[in-house]
Amino acid sequence: MKILAIETSCDETAASVVEGKGNKLKVLSNVVSSQIEIHKKYGGVVPEVAARHHVLNIIPVIKEALAKANITLPLLDKERVGVRSVGKKNPIDAIAVTAGPGLITSLIVGAETAKALAFAWQKPLVAVNHIAGHIYANWLPSQNQASTIKFPAVVLTVSGGHNLLVLMKKHLDLKTIGDTRDDAAGEAFDKGAKLLGLGYPGGPAIAANAALIKNEELKIKNLGVASQQSIKFPRPMINDNNFDFSFSGLKTSLLYALPKDKNWQKRIADYAHEYQQAIIDVLIKKTIKAALHYKVKTVLLAGGVSANKELRQQLAEAVAKNCPQVAFHCPDLAYTTDNATMIGSAGYFKFKAGQTISPDKIKINPNWQL
Ligand code: KG4
Ligand code: ZN
Repeated sequence: MKILAIETSCDETAASVVEGKGNKLKVLSNVVSSQIEIHKKYGGVVPEVAARHHVLNIIPVIKEALAKANITLPLLDKERVGVRSVGKKNPIDAIAVTAGPGLITSLIVGAETAKALAFAWQKPLVAVNHIAGHIYANWLPSQNQASTIKFPAVVLTVSGGHNLLVLMKKHLDLKTIGDTRDDAAGEAFDKGAKLLGLGYPGGPAIAANAALIKNEELKIKNLGVASQQSIKFPRPMINDNNFDFSFSGLKTSLLYALPKDKNWQKRIADYAHEYQQAIIDVLIKKTIKAALHYKVKTVLLAGGVSANKELRQQLAEAVAKNCPQVAFHCPDLAYTTDNATMIGSAGYFKFKAGQTISPDKIKINPNWQL
């Protein structure tokens, strides 16, 4: 079966077509129109600006996703075609859309478009939780497709808006066992980058600067100084007897450290490296602790921060070292930050479980908890 998936919860207008059979998914198209360049100048996402761009982008993005999947269908603009005739030859079996959490005005654009298409095409609709979408990116085809994911699994799902440890005993059974008390890891990356003058989004900028530390020659060429490893930031809540996180204190440590160091602008790579490592250390320690406590068979990584190469590599190494019997899996880079393919993946499993919704019943929820 084929699913058209739509994602507009933040600043990416995205549409994909995925094909599902059994527990296997095939990606027929993955179109993401990013607004990063637009929001960069404001230092973060401006909700009303994001919503306006979603309105402009949504139909062209859906058309492109259908075309790339070799599907030609009338949409709802110029070509109005009788519902029944479209329904008959329409290869799309269902429409999946992000219904929350996210920015209310952005969510509305995707949900209303999905609703209109579901009405016109007479197809079932699946409302998908954005975080569940990130988690289900793990079921998309990937380069390290060595193993099928076995339950129970623990998922570290980290992005700009959320920071959760989730226990999965079976499909669609998503139980939050750990959360952040304040900032999410992605938010910590973004706020830290702002303090270091590295711009938005902060994660890739901090990661790129931190990587210079690994290559001393490159660092000297770029920064004109040799490495000084004296900077040390706290690892908040790392030894606490729970699976929760807290990252706002880390950001405050950076805020206080910079004015005390006259040379900080020459040592951005040092600061970025230590700041990133502090976040990674806490994320890994808590994930391994959860994996051992719940005796899981698989550790999964998800969310925008899972694009971080150091996090991917260090978590894989930590799983291999601390629980060698446990498998580790993370999505391909293309499906780590916001995209609609992950929504199609979660949508497919929900559809299989009969969790569809009639178009007039769909409600967006900007604070939808897992
Ligand atoms: O999942 P996502 O695209 O949007 C939300 O659902 O929030 O995640 C965006 C977050 C941002 O905070 C961004 O800085 C972070 O993911 N991010 C990264 C990297 N790429 C994106 N963080 C660390 N390292 C990266 N390479
Ligand atoms: Zn996201």
